[in-house]
Amino acid sequence: MREGNAPLIRREDYVAPAFWIRTVDISFDLDPAKTLVISKMKVERNTAVPHGPLRLHGEELQLLRVLINGESVSFRQEGHELVIEAAPDADFTLEVRNTCAPEKNTALSGLYTSGGSFFTQCEAEGFRRITYFLDRPDVMAVYTVTLRADKTKYPVLLSNGNLADSGELDATRHFAVWHDPFPKPSYLFALVAGDLVAREQRITTRAGRDHLLQVFVRRGDLEKTEHAMNSLVASIVWDEARFKLPLDLERFMIVGVSDFNMGAMENKGLNIFNTSALLASPATATDADFARIEAIVAHEYFHNWTGNRVTCRDWFQLSLKEGLTVFRDQEFSMDMAAAPSARAVCRIQDVRQLRAMQFPEDSGAMAHPVRPDSYVEINNFYTATVYDKGSEVVRMYQTLVGRAGFEAGMKLYFERHDGQAVTCDDFAQAIADANPGSALATRLEAFKRWYSQAGTPHLKARGTYDATAQTYTLTLSQTNPPSPGQDSKLAQVIPVAMGLLSHEGQVLPLQLQGETEPAGTDRVLVLDQSAQSFVFVNVTADPVPSLLRGFSAPVLLDDGLTDAELLVLLKHDTDAFNRWEAGQRLSLNRILAAVRSGKPLVLDGAYIEAMRSLLRHPQLDSAFKELALTLPGEAYIAEQLEVIDPQAIHAAVDAAQNQLAHALRDDWVAAFEGNQVSGGYQPDPVQSGKRSLANLALAMLVLDAKRSGDTVWPGRAYQRFKDAGNMTDRLGALSALVNAHAELAEPALARFHQQFKDEALVVDKWFALQGRAAERDGKTFARVRQLLQHPDFSLKNPNRARSLIFSLCMFNPAAFHRTDAAGYVFWADQLLALDAINPQIAGRLARVMDRWTKLAEPYRSAAREAIVRVAAKAELSSDVREIIERALA
Ligand code: ARG
Ligand code: ZN
Repeated sequence: MREGNAPLIRREDYVAPAFWIRTVDISFDLDPAKTLVISKMKVERNTAVPHGPLRLHGEELQLLRVLINGESVSFRQEGHELVIEAAPDADFTLEVRNTCAPEKNTALSGLYTSGGSFFTQCEAEGFRRITYFLDRPDVMAVYTVTLRADKTKYPVLLSNGNLADSGELDATRHFAVWHDPFPKPSYLFALVAGDLVAREQRITTRAGRDHLLQVFVRRGDLEKTEHAMNSLVASIVWDEARFKLPLDLERFMIVGVSDFNMGAMENKGLNIFNTSALLASPATATDADFARIEAIVAHEYFHNWTGNRVTCRDWFQLSLKEGLTVFRDQEFSMDMAAAPSARAVCRIQDVRQLRAMQFPEDSGAMAHPVRPDSYVEINNFYTATVYDKGSEVVRMYQTLVGRAGFEAGMKLYFERHDGQAVTCDDFAQAIADANPGSALATRLEAFKRWYSQAGTPHLKARGTYDATAQTYTLTLSQTNPPSPGQDSKLAQVIPVAMGLLSHEGQVLPLQLQGETEPAGTDRVLVLDQSAQSFVFVNVTADPVPSLLRGFSAPVLLDDGLTDAELLVLLKHDTDAFNRWEAGQRLSLNRILAAVRSGKPLVLDGAYIEAMRSLLRHPQLDSAFKELALTLPGEAYIAEQLEVIDPQAIHAAVDAAQNQLAHALRDDWVAAFEGNQVSGGYQPDPVQSGKRSLANLALAMLVLDAKRSGDTVWPGRAYQRFKDAGNMTDRLGALSALVNAHAELAEPALARFHQQFKDEALVVDKWFALQGRAAERDGKTFARVRQLLQHPDFSLKNPNRARSLIFSLCMFNPAAFHRTDAAGYVFWADQLLALDAINPQIAGRLARVMDRWTKLAEPYRSAAREAIVRVAAKAELSSDVREIIERALA
């Protein structure tokens, strides 16, 4: 492991490498205990930078020998670098021999074993754990890979690109040679060796080229790969249609592995996936899993252009590929959803995720710009900010230049940079240059503050109506509170998509002062100063503004609207996102008022009637109703408060939930009955929308039964749990029982485990459900502690560790933040145990305490004590050390 004294790396210190590696001819004699790696490279001095030694990265390797042009050469080892002073000026060949120990690699970075097979994960800096190399993304080489291994244990041998040769070596061993014609950085290298089977499909793309698509998994999992294969085909079709980007390899492979740190990895031609992001059957996966798999398969496929063909110059540019690729997968999911209402549902879900994960990140100890300025451990920067805020930044380009303009910008980006390692500035320049005179091009430097300034801007909007002049003046202003290392900030460019409605709900035409006629009823205002006023003319009625439609910028909006105005938007807004948002705001206002006043929450009749008419609405989609009737998340609620009392927030949400359950009881019954799906299971928007609303209704009914003592609904939930024809309904019924602490929860949990004990991904759900269960009298916390001893629990498998420990610490604030501090003690213990096994996963868990300074007492002091206890450990990884030090800074 990399110890916790690693140096700070700064973006401004970037220098091009002293050498280029042009080709790599690398062979592996695969053995779990000791794998021999022989790497032969063609190396060239980079004459553009000062003359210096050749410094190769290497970690956890046994070096056997180093040859230059076939002769041994003197070298020294400096920490994690191999330094060769006497490298020639002329081009030379470099040969390195070393071994590594895959079966001891519990960090799952580099070459490791899982379930008896070999896998790699090289992003960001895993290749240096395989062999000595210039392990940085601006060094791009053409790879030829030879794999040698036992043929019965490892019948399948895969690497990037195309199979060039294969055959027998002797009675027990065989080999395969793979060649990837595209120069690539080392982080995109991959190999797989194991006893796997593949689902295969041949396709002919628009361009008329034939391709072989393969999804490799363990023997028993083949029937769970159909959805992933369909998603892959759909992704290929979509990227060709929308961005004219074709598949560039004859063969495209996906491989599933059950031990994996992230969701998946876009290695050139050989994507490696966490099984949780790949395998699905109606019996074992939920609708949400199906949707996530579709999105991740697409995401990794889209990286082939945005990430692989054009890659990052250095890791500070990570959002260049991640923000852009998340944007692309979000657009893809929306297009797949097809119907306008289903598109809105996608958008709402993405924004909910952003608010739950990225907003808290942006106001906590780890706040960083989309393009960070410094890091100690790059693995700590695969964050919601780089991914999800990065995607919002890309979306703003599209909003500013239009869809066609954005496509033209992408075209220019690839014309300029195909085959290169570039920066976020290069991307911005391409989009702007393809759209001269646009709202983006005229403000490019100011727009790029989205890359350099951390923090969520606060956007304030106030309007005044002049009935005599028939003008409406909308004043927009912005502030961005300080972030670590950034005390004051400049105005950002904020596109505000908007419309105006009358109080009766009529859509009003939008004509700005100086314009000769109205320009539609939906437009984008661009705020690029700290404050600006926009005057609308010929406004015939005092309007209700609908601002930030579709969530056109990642900001916190204060529009000062009254309940009456929010109700107008809830009923009549033509923008489905803002319609949903109006409902959320009504809920949020009530929850915040209760938390701030310390008084118990009592829902008023107007609110309840608004929620009732939503639930009963004859036209609205079930999926939309479910989102609209789900209360804002506790993390997002906490974002609105100066001081966070997690128990007070939870109590208010809990009260709102119970009152909604009770007051709308008959409507929940109708929603449950009216949203039963008949016919075969399909994870499509219509069916999944019905299931989600039926499950919410059932949860409400079981919750209300707990209060009233009724046994009918818990009984029906148990029946549904037993008889369900798919995992969505089964898990929905189970969680209704568990979250309400119904008596039938116990037998249901036991039965579920018994039924699915051989399905690892379902056992993960079983742990996660208990870790996330609504807290009541400390029962959930006690149960999680008990489950640590369960024979199926293990810290070594990241999915399993996440399912129990992260569920509690990250997603269950009421169970985690305890007045007796036991949650924090649990966190520190598990963090230290995890860090010794897998620093990347530990680094994630460490993030739970990001916002401890905002906690109310006694949580704040107790949290600090736990963090200090972790900091005092001498043997921390650089991953955890960086997070902990930033938390205490
Ligand atoms: N590039 C991968 C993705 O598609 C994520 C891999 C990150 N891996 C890591 N160890 N940090 O988003
Ligand atoms: Zn990615």
